[in-house]
Amino acid sequence: MSNQWSKKQEAWSARFNEPMSELVKRYTASVFFDKRLAEFDIQGSLAHATMLAEAGVISSADQEAISKGMAQIQQEIANGNFQWQLDLEDVHLNIERRLTELVGDAGKRLHTGRSRNDQVATDIRLFLRHEVDRISGLIKGLIQSLVDVADRNADLVMPGFTHLQVAQPVTLGHHLLAYAEMFERDLERMQDCRKRINRLPLGAAALAGTTFPINRNRTAELLGFSEPTRNSLDSVSDRDFAIEFCAAASLVMMHISRLSEELILWMSPRYAFIDLPDRFCTGSSIMPQKKNPDVPELARGKTGRVYGHLTGLLTLMKGQPLAYNKDNQEDKEPLFDTVDTLVDTLTIFAEMVAGMKVKPARMREATLEGYATATDLADALVKKGMPFRDAHEAVARAVRYCDDHGKGLEALTVQQLQTALHLTELGYSDDLVNEALLSVLTLEGSLAARNHIGGTAPNQVRLAIAATRQRLGLGAA
Ligand code: ARG
Repeated sequence: MSNQWSKKQEAWSARFNEPMSELVKRYTASVFFDKRLAEFDIQGSLAHATMLAEAGVISSADQEAISKGMAQIQQEIANGNFQWQLDLEDVHLNIERRLTELVGDAGKRLHTGRSRNDQVATDIRLFLRHEVDRISGLIKGLIQSLVDVADRNADLVMPGFTHLQVAQPVTLGHHLLAYAEMFERDLERMQDCRKRINRLPLGAAALAGTTFPINRNRTAELLGFSEPTRNSLDSVSDRDFAIEFCAAASLVMMHISRLSEELILWMSPRYAFIDLPDRFCTGSSIMPQKKNPDVPELARGKTGRVYGHLTGLLTLMKGQPLAYNKDNQEDKEPLFDTVDTLVDTLTIFAEMVAGMKVKPARMREATLEGYATATDLADALVKKGMPFRDAHEAVARAVRYCDDHGKGLEALTVQQLQTALHLTELGYSDDLVNEALLSVLTLEGSLAARNHIGGTAPNQVRLAIAATRQRLGLGAA
């Protein structure tokens, strides 16, 4: 055979009249990125060989040779001695060729009854199942950090915001538990998409199935898949599971990005609610005083990158007729990068949240600045028989009075509050206001009053923390 043929082309060159240029070889090759699937490719091949031997398609001597050869290949890859060759296009052909070098004809028999089309679909599913399990553990780790910090701050008052304006007092514990809820939904989505990842495409072969007496249930069992996929054409072309994963990953990053935005605001001297440990921040090359929240800023930025991968994969699939097309080779880099971004981000955030330093005095001060208990005052008047709309009007007048006099609502005396509410003008008795009513204007009174499922009262926050710990099997702090 002429040496102008690449090793890959030798596999099918009898059909071809001219060799591939170096550029086209590089353009069509995937080995530089799909070698990351090697361990899963080998797992899949070992299961396939076992099934083939049990079905009598290959001999048990061949199967043993294949396992021995694969064990050596695993060693070579682990030690960095495996020679990855561009000429062999992808991870599958590289491993198969090395196996054949090591064990001869048994290696050439491995590909009986399968195609790279069902092989690669199997590899990605094995890879993604492994990563979904790892990511699920990392999401739990982040929830654990949020819940631990929430626990230490179950009654620490801070402003709750709407429109980024101070709205009503909440506790920091309650605020952090909102994020714990988001990430728990993300965990559920990961677990749900895992069900559809965990099905075996192997056996679909190129597209139509195979003439060999294969046992797909057995291969599924060997690889820990819940069941074989049900249609061979769909098996080799379906990438929904990868898209679904990227959608779930995008939601994780969206939540990370919202949290980042708050950490960045809270760390700015305008808020000064928290400080992040130095190891998550950087300084400025010109301004010596700066300490910048680089990690949350980067995470906010990397969110766009993960959304991009989701859009990329959706677009990759939208024009493809059945069954396998080479387009599918483009699924790997976005998927790998999504996994890597999530793994790093979640790992870092669990540690950063756990190490966040809280500044209670600043949080209280900011809560007092915004008439955060105005709704409590209106509610108290309603409980004394005033219709809510009138109470709303009276309290709005009181807030204007406070603005004019440079005072907070909680700083008014009974008499001042009577005047401020303009009660007689609105047709109500000043008797509605007494000392007891003033107590609803305190931040602690406001918090404690929201004592129902999902409310910010400190004892509800503690119950929510305990319930989250129990649902997720998290230990106490
Ligand atoms: N490297 C290919 C991929 O990632 C493997 C399958 C190739 N199949 C084919 N018919 N060319 O999709």
